[in-house]
Amino acid sequence: EESKKIVLEEDPALTAAVKSKLGNLTPLRSKRVRVSGWVHRLRDQNKIIFIVLRDGTGYLQCVLSGKVAQTYDALTLTLESTVELVGTLQPVPEGKTAPGGHELVVDYWRVLGASPGGEDAFTNRLNEKSDPSILADLRHLVIRGETASAVLKLRAALLSSFRQSLVSRDLVEVTPPCMVQTQVEGGATLFKFDYYGQPAFLTQSSQLYLETCLPSLGDVFCVQESFRAENSHTRRHLSEYTHLEAELAFITFDDLMSHIEGIICSTVDRLLADPSTAALIKQLNPNFTAPARPFRRLSYVDAIAWLNEHGIQHEAEDAEGNVIRDEAGSAKMVDHQVGDDIAEAAERRMTDILGTPVFLYGFPAELKAFYMKKIPGTSADGGPVCTESCDLLMPGVGEIVGGSMRIADMEELLVAYKREGIDPAPYYWFTDQRKYGTCEHGGYGLGVERFLAWLANRFTVRECSLYPRWPGRATP
Ligand code: 4AD
Repeated sequence: EESKKIVLEEDPALTAAVKSKLGNLTPLRSKRVRVSGWVHRLRDQNKIIFIVLRDGTGYLQCVLSGKVAQTYDALTLTLESTVELVGTLQPVPEGKTAPGGHELVVDYWRVLGASPGGEDAFTNRLNEKSDPSILADLRHLVIRGETASAVLKLRAALLSSFRQSLVSRDLVEVTPPCMVQTQVEGGATLFKFDYYGQPAFLTQSSQLYLETCLPSLGDVFCVQESFRAENSHTRRHLSEYTHLEAELAFITFDDLMSHIEGIICSTVDRLLADPSTAALIKQLNPNFTAPARPFRRLSYVDAIAWLNEHGIQHEAEDAEGNVIRDEAGSAKMVDHQVGDDIAEAAERRMTDILGTPVFLYGFPAELKAFYMKKIPGTSADGGPVCTESCDLLMPGVGEIVGGSMRIADMEELLVAYKREGIDPAPYYWFTDQRKYGTCEHGGYGLGVERFLAWLANRFTVRECSLYPRWPGRATP
């Protein structure tokens, strides 16, 4: 009853408060400041109310005592309500800690948007122990948490750092279309839709468009969503992911791998050199250290031998591609042979044993996309025709980059379409890249969520996407 009568008013006699975001408060110590945000934590101790406020730029401890702690709003305040607070910013007392090393001693405040209490309270909706599918439905609330928001902030810093690394090497950013009528990585993983009565697809990769930009802009890159209709429920597959792709002209295969390594290392170094992003990495992945250069390079043929030496086998398949099982249902395991695809499980075990980034290179043409440049003479010893292709594998995640040199010769490309059963007609613009002044060129695609899962030590790429999509999930 008493509390209902207490009405707070801002004291006009006090010095005007400076409006600030929480991340910019340090120079305002001892000043009167005005801040707004969400009630991230709330605690009531001997009639003093402690609020940890959150506004996306940081956190601030706010202390309410006396009259400001006795209003009806103060007594009914709930987590995740929005509030405006005004007070004096003070260093935290000796021996105490608080985010930023300071706290706000509040002299006036008001509720801007109350969050419900009781049954519908935020903590009742979102419980850390909830079922993963409930957490996925509540992704919009999960991202308010300290870990999820730190991952998203690191993601933003990562994209910006990648862009700086690429631009400083004279690559120009372009924005290719998402709606396309050609495939890049095989028809089996295309999302198809109706485009004004014509079949069209969501892009799997912007590579072909980047190649056409070389004669116009020189080396180019893009950061674009790619889509894959792979029915893979693994911790590194998404149906929609952010694909960082680049294409470079007049290079060799060796230049390509050195470029990928250089981009990754300078991007990571820049993140570690910035105190705020270094702190995010420390929070999420305390044991992270920048990878040593040069990255190990292992040819596909040597990798097959390595797997066999380490007893890493794969599931045997029949002619139709079905796993062969014994009566108890266990899969029959067999050694790897040259020509086999190195599946996710084997690849993961290999990277975990090696413990460092590894370039696997020189995959058989049979296993790879139609556009890849072949290494001359590789089949002379009866082995497969190999390509100037590489995958970069990282410990804990596996493949994060796929790249290759491209077929530069038009006639050879026409043969490659044929071999793959691709009608060359809709690819006329891609073929023209070879017709009107061809060049040796190559490029790569990096899965941003996979890279972030490695950097931030996340269990799955689903934690590294704002609103992840995987088979069966396209909400929220
Ligand atoms: O190896 P991929 O399929 O290569 C390409 O698309 C090339 N056309 C890229 C290029 O040369 N411009 O895909 C490249 C990377 C993979 O290494 C992986 O990191 C990521 O894209 N990726 C996925 N990430 C999440 N979910 C999926 N379903 C992914 N598929 C590929």
